[in-house]
Amino acid sequence: MIEWDAATIKDFQTTLLAWFDEEGRDLPWRHDHEPYHVWVSEIMLQQTQVQTVIPYYQRFMALFPTIADLAAAPESQLLKAWEGLGYYSRVRNMQRCAKQLLTDYDGQWPHTAATLTDLIGIGPYTAGAIASIAFNEPVPAVDGNAYRVFSRLLKIDADIAKPQTRALFEQVISRIIPHDRPGDFNQAIMDLGSSYMTARQPDSAHSPVKRFNQAYLDGDELAYPVKTKKPRPKPIAYVAVLAQMQDHWLMTQRPSNGMLANLWTVPLIPIEELDLDEDYQPADLVAAVETYFKQEYRLTLTAHYLDKRPVTHTFTHQKWTIQGVGGEVMLGDLAYFAGKAVTTAERQQLPMPKVQEKIFTRYLSD
Ligand code: ADE
Repeated sequence: MIEWDAATIKDFQTTLLAWFDEEGRDLPWRHDHEPYHVWVSEIMLQQTQVQTVIPYYQRFMALFPTIADLAAAPESQLLKAWEGLGYYSRVRNMQRCAKQLLTDYDGQWPHTAATLTDLIGIGPYTAGAIASIAFNEPVPAVDGNAYRVFSRLLKIDADIAKPQTRALFEQVISRIIPHDRPGDFNQAIMDLGSSYMTARQPDSAHSPVKRFNQAYLDGDELAYPVKTKKPRPKPIAYVAVLAQMQDHWLMTQRPSNGMLANLWTVPLIPIEELDLDEDYQPADLVAAVETYFKQEYRLTLTAHYLDKRPVTHTFTHQKWTIQGVGGEVMLGDLAYFAGKAVTTAERQQLPMPKVQEKIFTRYLSD
């Protein structure tokens, strides 16, 4: 790791901010510095690309213009607004945080990163982003962009997969961040990280901070940041049952905790739970699903194999492979079925995860 002297730090700040003033992105959450706007955008941006976030952010603000609107929203409306963004605990925690702000803080945001982390769902990154952008506190906001940008500029070779590495980056960046424009500085680092200093195809030759980029100057930019590999997502095979009962679809709601909590899907049966040989054929799968419906739900299903490629979907810790089966259920009692029968129009109102959208797209369109 290299260290910058005071003159280099000043030079870097000036260069970066001059570039940001010229080329910084015009994004809807940058039109003002309202902490509510900063917070919502930062939570959305945590696992999601800027281009994907923009329309979600705009719709969210139209639906819930204030913290009070967010606190009062019914969960189904909240999940619908978040539909497709993934990591749904984010929006549930946002509502809990909105309620916490109203009841414990008189609706007023705390102004420092240290106090912002007392709020539900606000970790060190989000606290740093809100404190610096909304309240001008000179604190870093260390996300993947900051790790990548500063590890390359300064050749920091600490492993960013290790939790204790955050403190090192925070310390280093704290010395570099300008006290007059900390929010712009942090956002300039984000813009740099998604333009000239991307993970796989950086374009440092044209970067405004190329002369500060020691890894680039040494020709080993792609060696940074140093990050040890996470375990691979665990593969799980499911069969998705697209079953109709007269004009209605059978939909199930996921449990209220765990992955995709409270969202709606068609019945998803882990293939492991079906009684199948290793070399089962489509007809065996269909028969096993019919048996499963009888045993688990007391429903008589006449199923058929949907002869299309399985859907795959990767979550943080799991990779799902989902084969579709279609079918008709005889009119019956849904007392043993953890869900309900809905019309196509009603179905479209239910909050569904992205993976369910993929299942419908694959198996219901020709
Ligand atoms: N990524 C995370 N936060 C961001 C922001 N405020 N602007 C652009 N990209 C971001």
